[in-house]
Amino acid sequence: MYIFILGKNKNLSKLEISRHLAANYSTYKIIENADNYLTVDIKDFNPESTINELAGTLKIGEIDMKTNSIDEVLDRVFLNTKFNYSITNLNLTSTELEIVELNVKKYLKKNKFKANYKKPLKNIVSPSKYSSWELDNGFELIAYKTKGDLNVLITLVSANTNYYKDFDNSRPARKFTHGTSFRLTNLMLNLFKFNHKTLVDPYCGTGTFLIGSLIKGFSVIGIDNETELINTSRQNIEWAIDYYSVENANYKLIKGYSESTDFKADACIFEPYMGPFLKKKPNKAQATQIAKRLQDLYKKLFENLKNNLNSKAEVICVIPYFVTNTGESIKINEKEVFTNFFKFQKLELDISNPITYSTPDGSNIGRYIYLLETN
Ligand SMILES: C[S@@+](CC[C@H](N)C(=O)[O-])C[C@H]1O[C@@H](n2cnc3c(N)ncnc32)[C@H](O)[C@@H]1O
Repeated sequence: MYIFILGKNKNLSKLEISRHLAANYSTYKIIENADNYLTVDIKDFNPESTINELAGTLKIGEIDMKTNSIDEVLDRVFLNTKFNYSITNLNLTSTELEIVELNVKKYLKKNKFKANYKKPLKNIVSPSKYSSWELDNGFELIAYKTKGDLNVLITLVSANTNYYKDFDNSRPARKFTHGTSFRLTNLMLNLFKFNHKTLVDPYCGTGTFLIGSLIKGFSVIGIDNETELINTSRQNIEWAIDYYSVENANYKLIKGYSESTDFKADACIFEPYMGPFLKKKPNKAQATQIAKRLQDLYKKLFENLKNNLNSKAEVICVIPYFVTNTGESIKINEKEVFTNFFKFQKLELDISNPITYSTPDGSNIGRYIYLLETN
């Protein structure tokens, strides 16, 4: 049995795990669906390769069903005489955590290890701290309570945060106001339920979805109405093909309006044009006006998608909402936009659709992730 510790966007991370398991394993069972972790019963599982594929999982560890004793769990870790260690607390009270900390200290003293405790700022050790503290040379103990029992285990693998940062720092052409996060791109790409060959991004901008898709082996079509952005996409894609050694890359870029451009694809993924750049939070009238304009634009887009996508298509996309200067959320009316053309996917693990994506602090635009399929 394995535990998956979830990143910041818990529901997106859960759905990503669920869809990854469904696509890659014939038998598995999600045992516990907790707030910040999932436990999964699964055989022939490879945590090392899985952690690199999942964009929303922080850590994976194996749960030993036979013991929940700290001494016995630590006895099985190969330890040098000098190392760092840390403790991730998933749901213990501070008093319960103190007891775990004390017992670990006792164990280390008894066995004469020279170990240095690195206490995380928050409850969960971030993957970047896991690597800078070199916890793979020592250990990260994960402690949690399930059905009233305290359980402990050791982290097997931690996410490689550099993969996403490296993309942003290395790609040749960037635009301040354009560019979907590479992590969100990968998270969304991992949510497709069916096997698809060709994906279309009707608002391709700097090409983030196109690149993420090419790396995963899809053929791609990118549409953007600005020549400059089409050139930016091309430059980034050519760089990525070389940088990520993408074999048989198949891409097509079209300068045109996504509401009226013809193409042939199996599925669609995008973060759309979200209105004028907002330096500060809009007032209600401004937000309502932007939302209404976008609503009209997206409606035409979804009609065109329906006409050009294959009959059993999926659409995974961002739709924005706007938070006004008085804290009110102004939403786009989804019934107006796509219910004539697409329907909501029913999501696993009691997750409701759309899923809120928490945007970085300071952003004036909120994001929902919609998962749709052909009516
Ligand atoms: C939010 S950006 C897309 C970001 C993109 N995912 C990336 O990673 O760079 C939206 C893009 O839509 C383009 N755009 C705006 N209106 C459009 C339209 N009607 N048809 C096609 N593209 C449009 C803009 O030029 C811009 O590049």
